[in-house]
Amino acid sequence: MNYQDEALKKIKDEVVELSASPLYAERVKNKYFPVIGEGSHSAQILFVGEAPGENEAKTGRPFCGRAGKVLDDLLVSVGIVRSDVYVTNIVKDRPPGNRDPFPDEIEIYAPFLDRQIKIIKPKMVATLGRFSMQYIMSRYGLEWELDSISKLHGKVFDTADFKFVPLYHPAAAIYNQHLLDTLKEDFKILKTCGIV
Ligand code: URA
Repeated sequence: MNYQDEALKKIKDEVVELSASPLYAERVKNKYFPVIGEGSHSAQILFVGEAPGENEAKTGRPFCGRAGKVLDDLLVSVGIVRSDVYVTNIVKDRPPGNRDPFPDEIEIYAPFLDRQIKIIKPKMVATLGRFSMQYIMSRYGLEWELDSISKLHGKVFDTADFKFVPLYHPAAAIYNQHLLDTLKEDFKILKTCGIV
């Protein structure tokens, strides 16, 4: 195992044992898995979703349900191979009933996301949805640029460590063709930054 494999494995072990999380009891009760992340440990692009849905919590894999199918299609549409990128979420356990994550849940899991970013060192971080957008912008020096996702989606921002692109959440495009078209257009930006 190289440094990245080992450091990411340590994150996994810590999240598995995270009994201090408000979502831990739900995980145990439902025999769910935490969803740590998946993909290349030296990815140039790191995607950050919101939190696992039911399919994800049952398998331990991010974006493997309906939203994942939309993400897969979007990646194919711009010729990006999913195993070349890294896909994770800000919250690593499933909030009951697919509700929005609570601030204390984001607070307890976000340091793991920060460590994943430090270890993988992506050239670009692309957030999926407003919760991960708000977190990354506040945490990485873009708090003054914060606005609604409808204003910011598809724009490229520079941080000290990576380029940042906020994107709509693929789940929002399942029944919304207009939003799907917007996401498709925005995904092209991932290719135009000279990264992949
Ligand atoms: N929605 C998310 O935000 N993340 C997943 O992993 C699946 C659905």
